[in-house]
Amino acid sequence: MANAFLFFLLFIFSSNIIFENIHACNQSERSSLRFLALTLSSPHLNWTSADCCNWEGITCNEGGWITHLQLPSKGLKLKEGTFLSSSLGNLTHLTHLNLSHNSLYGSLDQTELFLSMNDLEILDLSYNLLFGVLPSSLPSSHIRMVDLSSNRLQGEIPSFFFQQAWNLTSFNVSNNTFSGPIPSFICHPSSSSLRHLDFSFNKFNGSISSGLGKCSKLQVFRAGYNYLSGTLPEDIFNSTTLEEISLLRNSLYGAVSDRISNLTNLTTLDLSYNQLNGVLPLHLGKLSKLKHVLLDFNYLEGSLPLSLMNCTNLIELRMGANNLGGDISMLNFSKFSQLNKLDLRHNNFFGIFPRSLYSCKFLKAIRVGYNNLEVQIQPEILSLKYLSFLSLGWNKRLTNISEAVKILMGCRRLVVLSLASSFLGEEMPNGVEMADFNGFQNLQILDLNSCNLSGIIPSWLSKLKNLQVLNLNHNRITGSIPSWLGTLPRLQTLMMQFNQLSGEFPKELCTIPMLVSGKTAAQVGRISLELPIYCRPSAHAKPLQYNYIFYTPFIYLGHNCLSGNIPIEIGQLQLLQLLDLSANNFSGNIPDQISNLKYIEVLDLSMNHLTGKIPASFTGLNFLSRFNVSYNNLRGPIPSSTQLQSFNASAFEGNLKLCGAPLSNECQTTMGADAPEMSTQDADTEEHQISWFYVFVALGFNTGFWGVCGPLVLVTKWRYAYYHFLDNVQNKFHVMRAKRMASMKRRFV
Ligand SMILES: *[C@@H]1O[C@H](CO)[C@@H](O)[C@H](O)[C@H]1NC(C)=O
Ligand SMILES: *[C@@H]1O[C@H](CO)[C@@H](O)[C@H](O)[C@H]1NC(C)=O
Ligand SMILES: *[C@@H]1O[C@H](CO)[C@@H](O)[C@H](O)[C@H]1NC(C)=O
Ligand SMILES: *[C@@H]1O[C@H](CO)[C@@H](O)[C@H](O)[C@H]1NC(C)=O
Ligand SMILES: *[C@@H]1O[C@H](CO)[C@@H](O)[C@H](O)[C@H]1NC(C)=O
Ligand SMILES: *[C@@H]1O[C@H](CO)[C@@H](O)[C@H](O)[C@H]1NC(C)=O
Ligand SMILES: *[C@@H]1O[C@H](CO)[C@@H](O)[C@H](O)[C@H]1NC(C)=O
Ligand SMILES: *[C@@H]1O[C@H](CO)[C@@H](O)[C@H](O)[C@H]1NC(C)=O
Ligand SMILES: *[C@@H]1O[C@H](CO)[C@@H](O)[C@H](O)[C@H]1NC(C)=O
Ligand SMILES: *[C@@H]1O[C@H](CO)[C@@H](O)[C@H](O)[C@H]1NC(C)=O
Ligand SMILES: *[C@@H]1O[C@H](CO)[C@@H](O)[C@H](O)[C@H]1NC(C)=O
Ligand SMILES: *[C@@H]1O[C@H](CO)[C@@H](O)[C@H](O)[C@H]1NC(C)=O
Repeated sequence: MANAFLFFLLFIFSSNIIFENIHACNQSERSSLRFLALTLSSPHLNWTSADCCNWEGITCNEGGWITHLQLPSKGLKLKEGTFLSSSLGNLTHLTHLNLSHNSLYGSLDQTELFLSMNDLEILDLSYNLLFGVLPSSLPSSHIRMVDLSSNRLQGEIPSFFFQQAWNLTSFNVSNNTFSGPIPSFICHPSSSSLRHLDFSFNKFNGSISSGLGKCSKLQVFRAGYNYLSGTLPEDIFNSTTLEEISLLRNSLYGAVSDRISNLTNLTTLDLSYNQLNGVLPLHLGKLSKLKHVLLDFNYLEGSLPLSLMNCTNLIELRMGANNLGGDISMLNFSKFSQLNKLDLRHNNFFGIFPRSLYSCKFLKAIRVGYNNLEVQIQPEILSLKYLSFLSLGWNKRLTNISEAVKILMGCRRLVVLSLASSFLGEEMPNGVEMADFNGFQNLQILDLNSCNLSGIIPSWLSKLKNLQVLNLNHNRITGSIPSWLGTLPRLQTLMMQFNQLSGEFPKELCTIPMLVSGKTAAQVGRISLELPIYCRPSAHAKPLQYNYIFYTPFIYLGHNCLSGNIPIEIGQLQLLQLLDLSANNFSGNIPDQISNLKYIEVLDLSMNHLTGKIPASFTGLNFLSRFNVSYNNLRGPIPSSTQLQSFNASAFEGNLKLCGAPLSNECQTTMGADAPEMSTQDADTEEHQISWFYVFVALGFNTGFWGVCGPLVLVTKWRYAYYHFLDNVQNKFHVMRAKRMASMKRRFV
């Protein structure tokens, strides 16, 4: 009993001693921390008690020295005029410094921040506002991890930066503005521990010099989104431990060496958006662990190596926009039991669309558009339960649209369906066979453009409650525009150019919910697409990539036979950004209410029979970047505003009674004798037709997929924040595609 009591006392006593020891905070370090706290403007750190080892984010060692300073995601901000470095420099025993995801502003080079941190092992200052160049060397020989990603650092990586960093395992400087060469010298012979290297999203340039092959443990090498050129360094294939190589969006050229088959642990190979050429490595199939192969947007040629069939772990195979070819039916896809995404668009593959694909049970996305495949939709496609993205258009003729639609309707998860340039000359399925139509409940994009389909706009479309983009451009559709289009709850892009639609512009179309109410539009969540869609803003611009459907409130009804007045209700489509009614038979005045479309960027009313004046209220359309009322019977002065006067005279020409700048004829106070009327037919110049047309053909070509690209043609001009991520690509693509585009244009014109 007494023993137990004694033991109890002893316990209390000893634990007190431990307590005392652990919390012996060095007063000098305490004052350094206090100083740090004083330089922070927010938030308030409760760093007041005597023992600084108890403070939030602080850990001390047994000697009472501060070893860890970890305050990630605390919203830390420095007061103006103070620097991070000056207050931290005195914590000489620090091993872990983690201040990531704050708003720390300052230059790393400014003071001797690192100079005294000779024990530092972990340095994480990612996601801050640090700028300037790097100090000449890393602080400590014990350093293991360095993460400076997502700051605003710049300059070259100094050549002695890694001099003593023998134990460095991970170095991440992605998402800064570093320039100069990739520091291949990071792998000096004595530092064999490097595993992760991330240089992506910077401005590194020049070729990747050899050296990385010396990193005998390297697993991840990322340097995508830079300005790198030259060939892949040969010695990288000596790093047999590599699991990921991501060098997308650079200007690398040359062939991928067959030595890549030495990298047997490779799971991710992303070299997309470069200028690689030559044939694919014959023995690629030795890389049996490959999961993600992304080689799209290069100049690769030849066929897919048969050995690829041994890559049975493939999840994603993306080879689009290359010069690859060969008979695709030679490939047996049934071995790809894990395959999720297959993208072979825009190549020269031929042969029968392989049925073996239907045994890839997990397929979510298939895009083989723009090849020479013989595609026919088979009922087996229903075994692809997860299929959400299907793009087969621009191949050898697909036939029997009724049957195809009937089958595809069973693909319950389908979100994107593009069958452009298929079923040529058939009739749009409608009527009895579609009576029980109950499919496509998740469909958001339907692209049947350039199919030359006849018939009317079928009523089963009215059941597609999730449809956002409908592209029926370039068909022979007749009849009137059905009023139920105005009730489709998600519809935001209506493309029906180049058809034979007649009748009036239905008033009901002016109630499309997504174009009327910002609330409705905002409620529609963006789901990401299984494959990105591409398009270029103009014929010679770089292709842009979109990973989800943008809000594109556009109506294209140009080049039809629509007549009657433009309804005044059009003013309700407040959110509309593009309205193309060109080359129809619209008559009457231009309704004043169009000036309610305050976001309108493109307004094309050309080549109609519109009369009267251009409403003076048009001077308030501030976003207009394209405007065309040419070849109508408009009269009177062009309203003066910087906006309307900024367009070329060609936007107004062909209206003989229209006057004032930018036209050269000045307005008379009394109108002269009536000039001879000019019919719209005469006015329908070929040149004019081509300008719109050109853009669309161009898009079709780049994308093999017009559905969304058509409307997205304008987006780069937009101001909205959500376009900020649009990335650029090398110029070269347009050279290649411009040629094909030209031949395409000939086919249509
Ligand atoms: C506290 O640290 C300073 C140097 O930073 C050192 O000179 C001093 O001896 C330390 N005090 C104690 C009690 O360890
Ligand atoms: C850092 O230590 C030096 C002397 O070693 C001292 O002069 C300076 O005031 C200290 N800085 C802070 C912020 O405590
Ligand atoms: C500050 O921390 C001390 C103990 O370290 C605690 O007693 C006090 O309540 C805290 N103050 C605030 C405002 O959180
Ligand atoms: C820094 O802290 C964040 C948040 O806790 C964590 O995710 C990150 O891994 C840490 N950095 C390092 C290098 O450990
Ligand atoms: C590097 O790491 C090894 C193994 O963890 C360790 O023994 C050695 O002391 C470290 N070297 C330095 C300079 O930290
Ligand atoms: C580097 O940091 C970024 C965040 O800035 C992160 O997305 C990326 O995965 C990191 N790279 C590696 C190889 O861990
Ligand atoms: C780059 O950094 C910015 C700002 O810190 C951040 O918003 C953005 O998401 C980062 N981008 C990437 C690709 O990590
Ligand atoms: C890299 O970029 C810098 C600055 O833009 C330039 O001076 C240098 O010549 C470039 N180096 C190479 C190899 O292109
Ligand atoms: C790659 O490694 C082999 C032997 O492992 C060596 O002979 C060769 O020089 C290395 N290649 C390069 C480019 O470093
Ligand atoms: C490949 O990965 C396995 C398992 O992760 C590992 O045991 C093996 O050493 C690696 N091979 C190479 C060459 O790094
Ligand atoms: C790499 O592969 C080649 C054959 O492609 C072979 O001769 C060489 O020995 C391999 N090197 C290594 C380091 O495995
Ligand atoms: C696939 O792998 C097997 C076994 O490793 C091998 O015998 C066969 O030749 C390979 N097939 C191809 C096409 O490379």
